[in-house]
Amino acid sequence: MKQIGIIGVGYVGLTTAACLAEMGHQVIGIDTDRQKVALLGQGQIPFSEPQLPELVERNLRAGSLSFTTHYSEALRDADMVFICVGTPSSPSGHADLSQVEAAARQIARFATRSLIVVLKSTVPPGGNAEWLADILQANLPSTIKAPLVVNPEFLREGSAVYDCFHPDRVVVGAWDTAAAEEVAGLYVPLQCPILLTDPASAQMTKYASNAFLATKISFINEIARVAERIGANIHAVAQGMGFDGRIGAEFLESGLGYGGSCFPKDVLALSAIAEQHGYSSQLLQAVMEINATQREWAVLKLEQALVSLQDKAICVLGLAFKPDTDDVREAPALELINMLCQRGAQVQAYDPVAIPTAQKVLPPHAGLRYCGDAYEAIQGSDAILIATHWPEFRSLDWDRVRSTMAGSTVLDGRGLLSSDQMRTLGFEYLAFAS
Ligand code: UGA
Repeated sequence: MKQIGIIGVGYVGLTTAACLAEMGHQVIGIDTDRQKVALLGQGQIPFSEPQLPELVERNLRAGSLSFTTHYSEALRDADMVFICVGTPSSPSGHADLSQVEAAARQIARFATRSLIVVLKSTVPPGGNAEWLADILQANLPSTIKAPLVVNPEFLREGSAVYDCFHPDRVVVGAWDTAAAEEVAGLYVPLQCPILLTDPASAQMTKYASNAFLATKISFINEIARVAERIGANIHAVAQGMGFDGRIGAEFLESGLGYGGSCFPKDVLALSAIAEQHGYSSQLLQAVMEINATQREWAVLKLEQALVSLQDKAICVLGLAFKPDTDDVREAPALELINMLCQRGAQVQAYDPVAIPTAQKVLPPHAGLRYCGDAYEAIQGSDAILIATHWPEFRSLDWDRVRSTMAGSTVLDGRGLLSSDQMRTLGFEYLAFAS
């Protein structure tokens, strides 16, 4: 059993803390947000993530998990401390590492004995691990050692707990072999491949993995544009491609493109870091460009179908950037709502969980109304836009939907429905090449 401190209890930090506690370690989560720490201490999770509330609750009760705002408390007996703070995009596109730097300085200030510093936050390669190790070394007394181990996170929101216990792989990058093996040892019970490497390669693996998945999405969206022009069905094409083991079936869903707190920021940061090191990545730029224009494509489709969007009632189903989360960061739905409202549309929006988070960030458009359920949002609408892949939208009573709409247009931005069935029911069904 290890004593572990976790700095930053957002999606990654809280999930890591709860999973490590469940695996038998003694874990203390540290966050500067007093209110969040107070709520977590009572087992209340500030965001929506399946299985996490039960896991936190169980380990709080067992005494293996606790939360504090005091570094001194969390670092007193720690064998390891994980840095899990955010690295948002700065205006230049580079990752803003100020929270990571602050965490390293606090570790150096409050550590009373040697411990391993595990970097889980997504930090670009190219000198940043060295920079962080220097901060630790320069600010710690010479008697205290704090080797740095880069251990990127690959969990997905919406299935974070499952991913934590069933990783496809664990990547551990370090200069200090003993520290690397100790961190790798945490994951041995999970029986997955564990790659030991250097810090820069571990950091690059994280960026390359996210960039590759984003590329896969933009690739299928690009093919959908071509398929539409030549009359091919993109779902059949994606299915046919996916059977090839070298390609794989996942992340070939065409639609409104990727959102969330990771892909947009990480592809941009990788492109910026490449640029900073003298290389301009045309591929990454194209991935971002295709993703951005998918949303314009959707608005154009609606505009063509309804002739004009002025005073048209548009029902937007789904606000979260993907199902099973209330996270709306970089969610296509939000950008679409802004675009629709700017064109004079009246938007009736619904999401099973993400309305409160959307309300916090969307500007209060005169034409925007949030609805209590999908049918209320659909009532009297000229068109429906499906923006999130929530399964409950598939199982709506589409006969009833047809009779309560004012119009008949459905733009399926997530390829959720069957084009044949929708057309048989009398809808003008629009999708990405289907
Ligand atoms: C992503 C990665 O999948 C995780 O491995 C990684 O750990 C995480 O970023 C991170 O860096 O922290 P996440 O952002 O939670 O995870 O969500 P994904 O499931 O990857 O979906 C990202 C976006 O791509 C969503 O908006 C989704 O709707 C979209 N997407 C996904 C598609 O448009 N098409 C697809 O075929 C798949």
